[in-house]
Amino acid sequence: MKISRNEPWLAPLAGFSDLPFRLLCREYGCSVACTEMVSVKGLVFESPGTTRLLLTRQEDSPLVVQLFGADPLYFREALNRLLELGFTSFDLNAGCPVKKVVKTGAGAALLNNPGLLFEIVRDMVALAGPKMVGVKLRSGWDEGSRLEPDVFAELERLGAGWITLHPRTARQGFRGKADWDRIRMVQEQLGIPVIASGDLFTAEDGRECLQQTRAAGVMFGRGALYDPLIFARFRELMFGSGNKGDSEKNRAKRLQGMINRHVQLCLEGHDSWRSFSKMRTIIPRYLRGFQGARDLRKSIVACRSWEELQVLINSELGS
Ligand SMILES: Cc1cc2nc3c(=O)[nH]c(=O)nc-3n(C[C@H](O)[C@H](O)[C@H](O)COP(=O)(O)O)c2cc1C
Repeated sequence: MKISRNEPWLAPLAGFSDLPFRLLCREYGCSVACTEMVSVKGLVFESPGTTRLLLTRQEDSPLVVQLFGADPLYFREALNRLLELGFTSFDLNAGCPVKKVVKTGAGAALLNNPGLLFEIVRDMVALAGPKMVGVKLRSGWDEGSRLEPDVFAELERLGAGWITLHPRTARQGFRGKADWDRIRMVQEQLGIPVIASGDLFTAEDGRECLQQTRAAGVMFGRGALYDPLIFARFRELMFGSGNKGDSEKNRAKRLQGMINRHVQLCLEGHDSWRSFSKMRTIIPRYLRGFQGARDLRKSIVACRSWEELQVLINSELGS
């Protein structure tokens, strides 16, 4: 697994980090990408939605499959099936605060149930092998129940290969600021790598976070959703060539290229209404801060076909 300061990761992003988006990010310099969170139950029952989340291809590597659930039996069965399918690296979601997930005992609910958390990690490591399983955590359920150092120590002892920490509590959702200090403390404590997640909106945030926390690597989430080029910028920054500014004209050209490429990657997969509708919600994010974005967003939402969308993008951004 590529874990280093110069190897930026793409976060698991439910609803977004699908195959075309991962491939796009990789083309811009993302080193390791995570799938959207995959339900172990959905996997075992072979629900069509789950199968779709596991679509991948050769260039989509290294890939980490993120799993969520609360029943060790399903985890074991899901892991066995994934290993049979050829997947090798896995991540346990112990941070999702969404009600639908938490009420089943999964996601961030595991922060309140360390016994179950440890059991699942132990099983995952036993099946996938040491260093092949990561655990993605928030800093605790709420202010009063932040994870103690012994929880992190136990995860390391059980053979977790890395920890990803989004240092907000589950209760916080996305409110407040990510407390990067927690990342520093956990990385200082552990011998295994800690990957930093939380409020890395720009390449500069990524570098700053590494400097402040001494984390082993960074993971871009919302920053990548708004601009997949964040990976290229981050690499430029880390390799010392600095961030070259973008004129508005260059930006239009760059956006046109990026959107066309994303559309092409979608069309190489399933040319479905689902994928088209999703694209209409993604492109407006790419336009943040772009002159004329408001009108263009409205026109994008009104598009009814890939062709219509492509003609619009090329006429508005290509001139
Ligand atoms: C739309 C969206 C979907 C997300 N889906 C997942 C997920 O499936 N699994 C997970 O562990 N975290 C998920 N997260 C959390 C991110 O992986 C990341 O930890 C968080 O957004 C903090 O990083 P950021 O501030 O750079 O976005 C999601 C976040 C967003 C915004």
